[in-house]
Amino acid sequence: MFKIAVLVSGGGTNLQSIIDAIKQKQINAKIELIISSSRNAYALERAKDNRIPSFVISKKDFANPSDEICNILINHNIDLVVLAGYLGILHGKILQRFKNKIINIHPALLPKFGGPGMYGIHVHEAVLLAHEKESGCTVHYVDDEVDGGKIILQKRVPVLPDDTPDSLAKRVLTQEHICLVEAIKKITND
Ligand code: GRF
Repeated sequence: MFKIAVLVSGGGTNLQSIIDAIKQKQINAKIELIISSSRNAYALERAKDNRIPSFVISKKDFANPSDEICNILINHNIDLVVLAGYLGILHGKILQRFKNKIINIHPALLPKFGGPGMYGIHVHEAVLLAHEKESGCTVHYVDDEVDGGKIILQKRVPVLPDDTPDSLAKRVLTQEHICLVEAIKKITND
């Protein structure tokens, strides 16, 4: 059975979609551990509620969070790493050791609206500023280029004339949950 580690930084709604999909037996895998970049992330409450071990690896406490995370993943024999609203940037040995085993969910249709600084609400602000007619989300492999790895799956949503960054974010987030579960299913069933 695939051993999954989920990296988080915030509310953890993407994490929750994986937890629920496993419970509903849509995904044949186990979330072995959750790693948060912030001790205040509500995602840690979700970990506790579901009795999933969690670690907080923050830039404040660790000189090189990527290396620390890499060691934890190795020690737990992790097969698949899922960045689910994770705001840290992974670099160094982790990218080699877990090459093609780290995926990320990004709230836009990459390659557009990706890269440094393109996270959370900033993405949707940029999409509206560009007068795009549609947006969506992308699950992709993580490599040394921020949001540049091979695309696995995308879901599209319309941009509506009266959209605000928040209303667009909400519509995209709903599709993220579907897209992420579908992508993990694809990987764990292949
Ligand atoms: C959301 O903005 C989502 O688009 C991005 O990370 C943020 C938080 O997601 N992937 P979550 O609720 O913590 O999963």
